[in-house]
Amino acid sequence: METILTYLLPLVLIPLFLYLISFIRRTAPCKTNLPPGTRGWPMLGENIEFARLGPQKFVEDRMEKYSREVFQTSLLGQKMSIFCGAQGNKFLFMNENKLLASWSPQSMKKLLVYLEESNLKGVSDLKRRFHHDVFKPEALKQYIPVMDALARDHIYQEWTPNEVVKVFQLAKKYTYELSFKLFLNVVDPEKIKRMADPFTLLIDGIFSVPIDFPGTTYNRAMKGGKMVREELMKIIGERRREMMMMENDKMGPDLLSKMLLVTDEDGQFLSEMEISNNILGLLVASFETTSSAITSVINYLAQLPHVYNEVLKEQMEIAKSKQCDELLTWEDIEKMKYSWNVARESLRLNPPAEGAFRETITEFTFAGFTIPKGWKTFWTVYSSHKNPKYFPEPEKFDPSRFMGSGPAPYTFVPFGGGPRMCPGKEYARLEILVFMHNVVTRFKLEKLIPSEKIVFHACPTPEYGLPVRLHPHQN
Ligand code: HEM
Repeated sequence: METILTYLLPLVLIPLFLYLISFIRRTAPCKTNLPPGTRGWPMLGENIEFARLGPQKFVEDRMEKYSREVFQTSLLGQKMSIFCGAQGNKFLFMNENKLLASWSPQSMKKLLVYLEESNLKGVSDLKRRFHHDVFKPEALKQYIPVMDALARDHIYQEWTPNEVVKVFQLAKKYTYELSFKLFLNVVDPEKIKRMADPFTLLIDGIFSVPIDFPGTTYNRAMKGGKMVREELMKIIGERRREMMMMENDKMGPDLLSKMLLVTDEDGQFLSEMEISNNILGLLVASFETTSSAITSVINYLAQLPHVYNEVLKEQMEIAKSKQCDELLTWEDIEKMKYSWNVARESLRLNPPAEGAFRETITEFTFAGFTIPKGWKTFWTVYSSHKNPKYFPEPEKFDPSRFMGSGPAPYTFVPFGGGPRMCPGKEYARLEILVFMHNVVTRFKLEKLIPSEKIVFHACPTPEYGLPVRLHPHQN
């Protein structure tokens, strides 16, 4: 009896103690007018609720219960205010570097960068300017035929020989190989394959519980990240040596070649470590997001025949205007207006990125509430994308929402906004449209699991990877 009590007593007393602390904290008079909401249990915060409900329901419930403008919570061990709706998005996007600075959890940084890198702030400013230059539409035009050639090859090898394919798996394969080609000019299948397993470990661990202990997902991700960075350093070193023997204008159009020529304000070239961090950041930022976006569009095309038929009409007109071995160009992409509206509607309903964190660098007021210095903030697609105030009948798939002037400002934000808006937005648009063109002009699609659930890992994905039966067009 005594032994049982010894075990049971802490089980009762610990939760009671935690509840009391949380109760005292909630009822204690507060000096400032903080946003409404709860920070949940001491230490645990609202992490369990977030994981249990999923990001969308978590945000929607709290907007309903506390405020449609801003509410407080505690996630990842941080006091946090979640900004909502068009006004919340606008406020955060407009006050970048004035009231707010970028922030991401330490556990995530540990996976993605060599933290011993000396001048992270300087490098990130330089990096942002570089991204702006290399990802602007004019610079990306030359990538369209490369994307198309790789997509043709990919469809020929991975889709055409099969009656049934799993779309998410193949979208990831295409996205991964494309980024190796365009970011690094690596096409050697052996090299690409060698990095695939550690890269997958890294990706799987980015949103895992950050416990670095042998056998945990996070620990495997740390090891995977290290292996990928080592391979990247080798590639960068080799390219730098090749570059020394080449004239600058003979360098390839890939990002690595361009990055090797970037200098900081003191005229110094970026170190191999800095370049490796940057490339890894791009590989990670583009991988699941774009693969999830492609999968989601294909899902709607397979599900909605009237949408598929309109897209097919648009894409066939483009295909018929070209010789069969002629690759897609910028002019062709510009004609894909309806297809892009379909892709945008799909990004509204299944946004690949949930939102982003910031840190407040000074205390300020929003919607009458005080946001203290040091608190973290989060803007989220879930506060506006499915809000009937901005998108009537929000669950309905309706690409015509994007016709004319389109949705109200700051309501459709799959890529964020303001100075830190996703620099890969245009790259993603091109990749999605090129892929749609190549699939739709060859196949009609039939979903094998008509009501396949969408689950959240890093990005929303169909539970079984979206298996579809392919019906090739009869020419
Ligand atoms: C459909 C695909 C994509 C979506 C939905 C997406 C969405 C986002 C979002 C929401 C952010 C955070 C913005 C913020 O902090 O407020 C972001 C950041 C970023 N994205 Fe994307 N992204 C996509 C594809 C890409 C691609 C293809 C690349 C690279 C080629 C890329 C590179 C980046 C980088 C480097 C950042 C960090 C920017 C910074 O910290 O200043 N993304 N993305």
